[in-house]
Amino acid sequence: MSILRAVKGMNDVLPEDIPRWRRIEGLFWDTVARYGYGEVRTPVVEPTPLFVRSIGEATDIVEKEMYTFVDKGNDTLTLRPEGTASAVRAYLEHSVGGREPVTKWAYLGPMFRRERPARGRYRQFWQAGAEVFGDPGPYTDAEMIDMIVSMMRRLGVADVEVLVNSLGSGDTRARYLEALVRYLEPHEASLSEDSRRRLRTNPLRVLDSKAADDRAIAAAAPRILDYLGDEDRAHFDGLCATLEALGTPYRVEPTLVRGLDYYSRTLFEVVGHGGELGAQNTLCGGGRYDGLVEALGGAATPGLGFAIGLERLLLVMGAGETAPALDVFVVYRPGLEREASTLLKALRDGGLRADADLRGGSLKSQFRRADKSGARLGLVIGPDEVERAAVTVKDLRGGEQETLPRDGLVPRLAERLARETA
Ligand code: HAM
Repeated sequence: MSILRAVKGMNDVLPEDIPRWRRIEGLFWDTVARYGYGEVRTPVVEPTPLFVRSIGEATDIVEKEMYTFVDKGNDTLTLRPEGTASAVRAYLEHSVGGREPVTKWAYLGPMFRRERPARGRYRQFWQAGAEVFGDPGPYTDAEMIDMIVSMMRRLGVADVEVLVNSLGSGDTRARYLEALVRYLEPHEASLSEDSRRRLRTNPLRVLDSKAADDRAIAAAAPRILDYLGDEDRAHFDGLCATLEALGTPYRVEPTLVRGLDYYSRTLFEVVGHGGELGAQNTLCGGGRYDGLVEALGGAATPGLGFAIGLERLLLVMGAGETAPALDVFVVYRPGLEREASTLLKALRDGGLRADADLRGGSLKSQFRRADKSGARLGLVIGPDEVERAAVTVKDLRGGEQETLPRDGLVPRLAERLARETA
């Protein structure tokens, strides 16, 4: 019988890979805490209209990529394709805006999009992201970008490029869309089928198309930065000036539009180079969404956020060193299972990572497992040791050994291990 496999594009993370994941997660939480963000956890499943109304009907995510299903109660639900919509929903549902003028939330978890799987592009992928409600910027926009770059540097991912653009707001957008449609219409016949349709429903999306012909046409399209009104221009200049003051390198990329409809004003991406990263080299995307809270039924509230794709970050981080999962491995003469169990318990209670092969077997086979486990020390219990209330401690890398009294053993080992790994 053939074995069952995971859903295409959805991956297991096995214990040997977990240390690298934990490193990213730890650094992410440490970083956002330094900037005053609190963690939010929202459900993985949400009512479908939440995503349709926020991400936008004529986007790739909503048109093609959502995992949507009708549950047994006849509700239409969707596995979240991103975290911003859920954060806004939770912010409104719990009336957070009434309690605090500025809200800073961070989150980390799996997202789901039915995209074509490739290196760095999966159907279940992990995002670490954050959202700020109530701050119109542009200083927080710059601070957020700087925070992301600092975090990546701390992870050893230094070869990144920050791209920024502005989508303007209200008036700017209306004037720009008019100019864009005027430019695109004569090219209509050469556009892809999706783009021809979007020319009518959502012309900005034509600029985000991946089709080669569309891209060539988009490259010569009018640039939104040339249409910014005074306030939008001042906001964008403020962002750039603050990035310069913070010493964050960036490049203005006037063709950047991104694939979600909720954005206004600031847009940014952090692109990585090198490592095993292939074509999917956008490590992080984000921007401002000043109209979204209101569009989902709340009071007008500015919003800003980003999300980092964790699998992509892992691809540029490289393999790195991983610490072994165990400190000590207990090896015991058959018949001394109970002594082994009580020693293990004492070691674990004392904060050490300890294991043994409780199936028993010869000393030789237990030592083989001890060596394979990567543990630093082997603790041997035989009849002699039991009689003397002692344990023989063997350095599994150096081979030296000494017999130590059982009394006071655990703190002594803990101290030795701490000293050796310092
Ligand atoms: P996004 O650009 O759709 O933005 O996704 C952000 C990041 O998630 C991407 O840069 C990429 O690293 C990762 N990502 C996206 N799709 C995949 C995939 N199929 N496989 C692997 N990684 C992927 C958002 O999701 C917005 N919610 C970001 C945001 C927050 N904007 C404002 N607030």
